[in-house]
Amino acid sequence: MGIRPSRRTSILFSRTTLALILLFASIADADTPDTNKHVGVATCAGSTCHGSSRPISNSPVRQDEYFIWQQKDGHQNAFKLLLKPAARRIADNLGIKDASKAAECLTCHSDYVPEAQRGPHFSLSEGVGCEACHGGAKNWLGPHVSGNSHAQNIAQGLIPLEDPTVRAKLCLDCHLGSASKPINHRMMGAGHPPLEFELAFNTLIQPAHFKVDADYRKRKNFAASGTVWATGQLVSGQFLLDGLSSERMTANGLTPELVFFECSSCHHAMRPPRWNAGLGGHQDPGQLRIADASLVLSSLILRTLDLPSSRAWDTALKQLHEGSRQSVPAIRSAAADLRKLTDTALGELRGKTLGKAELLKLINALATAGGGKLAGDFTMAKQVYYGLDALSSHLQTETQLPETVFAKPVREVFDAVDDSQRPYDPERLRKALESIKAAAVEQSASS
Ligand code: HEC
Ligand code: HEC
Ligand code: HEC
Ligand code: HEC
Repeated sequence: MGIRPSRRTSILFSRTTLALILLFASIADADTPDTNKHVGVATCAGSTCHGSSRPISNSPVRQDEYFIWQQKDGHQNAFKLLLKPAARRIADNLGIKDASKAAECLTCHSDYVPEAQRGPHFSLSEGVGCEACHGGAKNWLGPHVSGNSHAQNIAQGLIPLEDPTVRAKLCLDCHLGSASKPINHRMMGAGHPPLEFELAFNTLIQPAHFKVDADYRKRKNFAASGTVWATGQLVSGQFLLDGLSSERMTANGLTPELVFFECSSCHHAMRPPRWNAGLGGHQDPGQLRIADASLVLSSLILRTLDLPSSRAWDTALKQLHEGSRQSVPAIRSAAADLRKLTDTALGELRGKTLGKAELLKLINALATAGGGKLAGDFTMAKQVYYGLDALSSHLQTETQLPETVFAKPVREVFDAVDDSQRPYDPERLRKALESIKAAAVEQSASS
């Protein structure tokens, strides 16, 4: 997904009220299999349950979750998109008769669980409903209204979305694609939009149907936006490596599966402005580039936080870049090696508290890297913005750093990467990053 200026602007201005849109880590492990029956959105939407038209005071949860989803959340529209002319065109190009009946599309545009898991009131036409994210409710539906603890709900199959690793895996499955929900260059060639996803930013712009208050923090473990950003990078890297090491890379014959490569390494104008001509810093000119932003940022995160797997990560990443100059089998094998490190790295990150010092170090590192060669790469430039936004808002909400410290320079970074009005200009980004660095250094010195 691209940067959305209008939404983003209103978000910036209401930052203080958004102090709460932050996420939560729990000790629960990822990969909770969702095997419960799915009962359908209507079952959750009773007026005394999650279907109130306004938030209910004195209730631990808002209770207007359905209303928000129905009125404001794009997920409600996910299935309906498949009936639109755009979808018909994509389907035609692919030789699919009806996108709204095709597994290739329903897998991400609905709550596409196996037949056996669909209850009597369930319908695919509800799009990405409550249970597509929270898991099938059959087993916890009754108990969760009669005083079950959060831990008990989880034991009965509720997915612990407050955990950033669990959440990242859920969102990325549809927003990046995976072996179980595949998307490929053929679909994009047929007209499907490219998938671009950064977890902290997308959590922020999904209309929030939950509120992180004292009660929330009591019930659930909490991870703020910087942690969510860092976790999202590592899990995105994991998804990419799963793809790069898989047989999907050799299924095409002539080229590897291009969805795992930077679109701009082939699709770009030959005339100035050539924003993608700066290269990522590790790339030979004229080379097909892996879409490696998450892997490069993970390297920066591990190094800056001094996590034990940092060195091994950098060695394996170098190997992958080498491989990308050699052959598809070399890429697959190097990707499999780096993939083995991702769970360890995630575990190390989970054990690390991001306090003021760490957050400032990360901001400084990101601004420094982003102001160097990486600024020439527009994909990376956008990712630098997402990271700075998440880290600085984490500082504001969790360490009471005044909003004024980073608000203006982060806004300047946003303006530099917002290409809706003018072409992207790396020099503009470099200048904005200088102000960020100055502010980070000043804060580090004063604390
Ligand atoms: C891997 C998951 C995935 C698969 C598979 C998938 N989609 Fe999508 N699709 C998405 C996501 C996510 C978006 C929203 C993109 C965004 O805005 O970031 C989207 C957006 C769209 C849009 C909106 C386009 C626009 O310009 O706004 C259409 C139409 C669409 N998909 C049709 C299809 C069709 C038809 C298929 C099957 C051939 C399909 N999708 C398969 C995930 C998927
Ligand atoms: C696209 C994914 C997604 C969809 C769809 C979705 N949710 Fe959520 N929901 C989340 C995330 C993320 C959170 C925040 C993490 C958490 O607390 O679990 C959340 C939190 C909640 C909470 C917890 C609030 C609290 O204070 O603990 C409730 C209740 C909830 N959602 C109900 C619903 C209902 C009802 C629907 C359907 C109308 C729905 N959700 C649809 C992702 C989703
Ligand atoms: C089952 C697949 C699925 C899951 C899981 C899912 N999404 Fe989506 N999401 C979609 C599709 C499809 C769309 C496009 C809907 C549209 O454009 O109307 C979408 C749209 C969005 C949008 C709106 C994009 C826009 O153009 O306005 C945001 C934000 C978003 N998702 C965030 C998330 C987050 C955060 C999570 C994880 C908590 C998540 N999604 C989980 C499929 C999914
Ligand atoms: C190795 C080079 C290469 C990479 C990388 C690549 N493509 Fe393509 N793409 C092609 C070729 C070749 C065609 C077919 C010729 C054409 O239609 O221009 C094509 C066609 C397309 C088309 C249809 C034609 C058009 O211009 O509308 C779209 C859309 C598209 N690609 C999107 C993407 C996206 C999104 C990515 C990144 C996820 C990507 N491509 C990555 C080479 C590439």
